[in-house]
Amino acid sequence: MSNLLNALPPAVQLCEVGPRDGLQNEALTVDAADKVRYIELLVDAGVTSIEVTSFVSPKAVPQLADADTVFPAIRKREGVRYIVLVPNERGLERAIAAGVRDIGVFTAASEAFAQRNIRMSIDDSLATFGRVITRAKREGMRVRASVSTAFGCPFEGDVTPAAVVDVAQRLLDAGADFLSIADTIGVATPNQVVAVVGALRDAGIGLDRYALHFHDTRGMALANVLTALQLGVREFDSSAGGLGGCPFAPGATGNVATEDVLFLLSRLGIATGIDLDRLRIASRFIGSTLPGRVVSRTFTALEAADERRPVGA
Ligand code: COA
Ligand code: ZN
Repeated sequence: MSNLLNALPPAVQLCEVGPRDGLQNEALTVDAADKVRYIELLVDAGVTSIEVTSFVSPKAVPQLADADTVFPAIRKREGVRYIVLVPNERGLERAIAAGVRDIGVFTAASEAFAQRNIRMSIDDSLATFGRVITRAKREGMRVRASVSTAFGCPFEGDVTPAAVVDVAQRLLDAGADFLSIADTIGVATPNQVVAVVGALRDAGIGLDRYALHFHDTRGMALANVLTALQLGVREFDSSAGGLGGCPFAPGATGNVATEDVLFLLSRLGIATGIDLDRLRIASRFIGSTLPGRVVSRTFTALEAADERRPVGA
């Protein structure tokens, strides 16, 4: 048992993606003011890295068409990274105008998904992001770059670790500060996590350069997180309540739930700086506008336990 726990990092950084990966996929539109409140509640819980919205085409993602209103309205807290996704130069212009300091760019490890998601080939997207990153760095921004479909593609099937490493390396070469290696459709299994982390390590891309991003479509997300922790991975993306999915990936369900990851990490003695009970306030709030969409097991169990507790106890 001690061997199992030996490699675990003492602290883990979570990047909260509920307001972006979560809300982008909802059929019901959430008011801009409620999005702002949701983001502020998440930060109140101790979240220090959060994807808040996307400056993408409103035709591609109508749910986030209010990004220009939402971003400036958030009361910013010192020391928190408020990340917005930017798909092209137009998005970067909007981000600059809104006062954004942290951007996220995104391409894929499979051609078919890049084409559906951003309507570019991988090569074209890297050329576009090369320009976006150069300009963003001149503006003093930090750039987080996501590699979608790193563990499987809804249109092409298997994706090799070599394809992931290739795109990851090119994003770093273009000047990205940090990567998020994403299982967009929730097909990854722990052996693949070992293979991808190993391939990145062999290419000289260390554990301080990337986060892993899991969806729970097939119930594998926490198994993948635990495997990654044992390999020393120190950053994960997760969404409060387990909201999420990708409008461009048919059948994909939500991200691994922040509450579930927090429960696991706290029981493993790994610090995050996030308070689970306060995070539940954020999930309860967004759940009141999106009935039935908060699916976190830990959230559900803790809410039920609260209801069973006698009044006044
Ligand atoms: N912000 C606002 N509008 C934008 C935009 C941006 N960043 N980029 C493009 N547009 C608008 C254009 O002005 C154009 O509008 P019009 O039809 O009224 O003239 C329209 O969107 C299409 O522009 P075009 O440059 O031809 O883009 P496209 O149709 O090839 O789409 C993307 C490319 C990248 C803009 C689009 O696919 C996109 O925004 N994808 C994001 C997907 C996403 O967020 N996925 C989830 C995250 S993993
Ligand atoms: Zn995702």
